[in-house]
Amino acid sequence: MNSQDRILILDFGSQVTQLIARRLRESGVYCEVWPYNSAPEARIRAFEPKGIILSGGPASVTEGESPRAPEVIFDMKLPVLGICYGQQTMAAQLGGTVEGGHAREFGRAVVTVTGECAITQGIWAKGALETVWMSHGDRITVLPPGFRVVAESGGAPFALIANDERHYYGTMFHPEVVHTPHGAALLKNFTHGVCGCTGDWTMAGFRAEAIARIRAQVGQGRVICGLSGGVDSSVAAVLLHEAIGDQLTCIYVDHGLMRANESEQVVGTFRDRFNIKLIHRDASELFLGQLSGVTDPEQKRKIIGRLFIEVFEEEQNKLGGADFLAQGTLYPDVIESVSATGGPSVTIKSHHNVGGLPAGMRMKLVEPLRDLFKDEVRALGRELGMPEEIVGRHPFPGPGLAIRIPGEVTREKADLLRKVDTVYLEEIRNAGLYDAIWQAFAVLLPVRTVGVMGDGRTYDMACALRAVTSTDGMTAEFYPFDMGFLGRVANRIVNEVPGVNRVTYDITSKPPGTIEWE
Ligand code: XMP
Repeated sequence: MNSQDRILILDFGSQVTQLIARRLRESGVYCEVWPYNSAPEARIRAFEPKGIILSGGPASVTEGESPRAPEVIFDMKLPVLGICYGQQTMAAQLGGTVEGGHAREFGRAVVTVTGECAITQGIWAKGALETVWMSHGDRITVLPPGFRVVAESGGAPFALIANDERHYYGTMFHPEVVHTPHGAALLKNFTHGVCGCTGDWTMAGFRAEAIARIRAQVGQGRVICGLSGGVDSSVAAVLLHEAIGDQLTCIYVDHGLMRANESEQVVGTFRDRFNIKLIHRDASELFLGQLSGVTDPEQKRKIIGRLFIEVFEEEQNKLGGADFLAQGTLYPDVIESVSATGGPSVTIKSHHNVGGLPAGMRMKLVEPLRDLFKDEVRALGRELGMPEEIVGRHPFPGPGLAIRIPGEVTREKADLLRKVDTVYLEEIRNAGLYDAIWQAFAVLLPVRTVGVMGDGRTYDMACALRAVTSTDGMTAEFYPFDMGFLGRVANRIVNEVPGVNRVTYDITSKPPGTIEWE
């Protein structure tokens, strides 16, 4: 028996499949996302799901070779919810008809609720008009036996269908996206109401289980953890320490490209407050030396990545090695995605993470966060009593300030940028905006501009401020500060940071921009 209720999500390649998992986890239900084609019967049965959700996807059921749900799920007497493509393949597999060639319906749509079912109970009343988010081309034209319509729209006569007896439901719309206002509640009706999940997935429960798992895996072995000061590696370190105490050593490689006071904070928190064995290696001379004269962004990233491995290995060798390497890998990195095209994606930037580094090392991996989403990692950090400055902090890239200094990186420029960044973040915190923003930082531009201060002419550096909202860093919108705020920040920067005489605000979204400048 599993200690928690579980739902299995079979992925057909939709861009938003992960959001189904997010919504379920938010309502206290443990779930996993598997590609539809790596779900053999034995694996499904061993998982013991209380229900199954079939995701959307880019294929068309009307094409011969299109994906199908494993037939066994319809023999297991389990509730099934099919979303968009999932609804269509379920309908086709159970004897209905799906046709293509209809007008594509994309974006916001209004459905009329024509009936009632377990999914809509207490949320959608018969006769109501409800807003949903659609994204589909094909549609069902003949329902499979036992199904009836619960909601319809002009473009989707079978917007929501139900087979009450077998507990099968299908939606043409996406309940998992926020643009379907009652979507999370509809999903909860499925998981809690229909499948009988109790919402027993809590961080307190996860903490106890994770600790037991770590102890079982590691035994008396020694573990090394690369600490970056970011949320993921920090939470992993504290969790590991709770599990195995002094068998854990953390290595913090300081490349000299951290934010102001970051290193002091890392040492203060982990060594002094949590009593974790911590090696703080100041390698700023080495990094800045090798970056000298280098201006190409990819080259900068590669140099930093390589040096990180070298320094990390050096420190690890000094320790006499270890049996395990701990990484703060998260669930989104683990989910094996269904590629719509089958082709490789283009490298926009070669990312590098402390956790993802030492590939050549002969250590086994411990990845205690690999079942968690970012917001769950934060919740776990709070559960572990970690300070809000760490669990609530904005993401910070592995290469640090180097990718916020276009052109050559020098210690002087890094010092200047740290000052600008400090003023900017201080103002953001004072205005109570820190938590509303995904990421905010300053960029030091490789441009000098003319200004006037007092009676004198200045010829100093320009900087850009960046702030974005995002849910996962994959897409982002610039943050719409009011002009009064921006004016105040610009004024403080130019007055308090000698060497900078001009401030600009970056209003590019992603895409087409990226969040970082390099
Ligand atoms: P971009 O600039 O690609 O950034 O839009 C998306 C998110 O990723 C962060 N980022 C990195 N994080 N190592 C990291 O750990 C990296 O090399 C790296 N490069 C970018 C960036 O800060 C943003 O949150």
